Amino acid sequence: MEQKREKFGSRFAVIAAMAGSAVGLGNIWRFPYILGEYGGAAFILVYIAATLVLGLPILYAESIIGRRSRSDTFGAMKKLAPGTPWRWAGLLTIISPILILSYYSVVGGWSVEYLFKSLSFDFMDMPASEIPDFFGRFISSPYQPILTHTVFMAAVVAVVLGGVSKGIEKFSKLAMPALFLLILVIAVYSLTLPGAFAGVEYLLKPDFSRLTAGACAAALGQAFFSLSLGVGAILTYASYVKKEEDLHISGVGTAVSDLIFALIAAFAVIPSVFAAGLKPTDGPSLLFETLPYIFNKMGEGVPLVSSVISVFFFVTILAAALTSAISMLEVGVAFLADEKGFKRRNATLLLGFLCWLVGVLCSLSFGPLSGVKILGATFFFFLDHLCSDWLMPMGGLIFTLFVGWKMSKADVRDEFTNGGTKNVRLFGAVYFLMRYVAPVGIIVVFVTNLLM
Ligand code: TRP
Repeated sequence: MEQKREKFGSRFAVIAAMAGSAVGLGNIWRFPYILGEYGGAAFILVYIAATLVLGLPILYAESIIGRRSRSDTFGAMKKLAPGTPWRWAGLLTIISPILILSYYSVVGGWSVEYLFKSLSFDFMDMPASEIPDFFGRFISSPYQPILTHTVFMAAVVAVVLGGVSKGIEKFSKLAMPALFLLILVIAVYSLTLPGAFAGVEYLLKPDFSRLTAGACAAALGQAFFSLSLGVGAILTYASYVKKEEDLHISGVGTAVSDLIFALIAAFAVIPSVFAAGLKPTDGPSLLFETLPYIFNKMGEGVPLVSSVISVFFFVTILAAALTSAISMLEVGVAFLADEKGFKRRNATLLLGFLCWLVGVLCSLSFGPLSGVKILGATFFFFLDHLCSDWLMPMGGLIFTLFVGWKMSKADVRDEFTNGGTKNVRLFGAVYFLMRYVAPVGIIVVFVTNLLM
């Protein structure tokens, strides 16, 4: 007998939950450095297009599968396409979040370190030129980043074990708007820094000569990472959405808020990169090299101000990172518990330990293991590109193919239009995007990326 599933109470709750999964380190840490690596304004244009033309249809596809089946990815495929190999798609949704969490937790750990440093006033008065050195020494040290990675991972496991995700999510409902305001203030402030204008130009003046196949693949990967697509996270959330809710509104609401968050983060980070005399191509360290500089500038003359802002910032970003991280672990735990008969506790401990272990390798790849390369990349970068540029788009491809080619058009229409009462006119275009544009777009990016 099917149990009655919990449902989201309102349209706002749906968007808040989906956006909560979407907004995280992907927007604030990953987006600015990826766009710095691939050349600024032109990359942003491709990224916006990737979000709206490919990301959004996949968000719809996952929403349709989730709400239609009212179950997780494995269950959904079993219910909607019983006895077919489609259920193997569920496997991707277990593997990718576990791999992502491994290195996500390392970056979460960096934020933990920065929170401690802000609490102990360590950044106060640190000259701009010393901050990159400080960060470089920290991440390449063999044990300190492992310690903070352990703290972050332990928090994720504790929350999932203790079943207090609800409490964390309530807290993050406060923390998210606070983070949004903070990042907005930082963006406005960083525009006033001397030398920041070069950064604004970098963000607004496209240089199309830098748009390689790799850059397009990276833009697509960033859109997937940032929207939590292709791993069944949105699918699972949608399974809790009421029949009367409008999937189009929640999809657009999620995509647009995620996009706005990322763009503001870029305007907070990139102009300060130029003002501080750093390079936008500095990679994953970019956010961590610029923030102490900005906070110190903000608190010039009143050092306490910079520490207070800094503490606030890292508490809120950790809340955002934690809600994303919890949902990554939860997918695997739910699978092991529901499908493989594991006790939830054992599943959580097992997967938590696995993520921790892989995370240790990622962390060490900035220090003692920096010489160990897989396909030319260190462990951290290999995993990051494997997940965002390949596994997540692969998952997205599977979901759109399922909706566009396996489910009957009548069922898809019924789900998207709430039985013909909403978005009826829009449906034709959305169906076209899901059936042709998104799959072809992903395949084209895959192929060019392989050949180039
Ligand atoms: N979108 C999240 C962020 O921007 C990260 C993320 C990637 C994620 N995949 C996920 C979150 C799966 C939850 C589930 O930080």
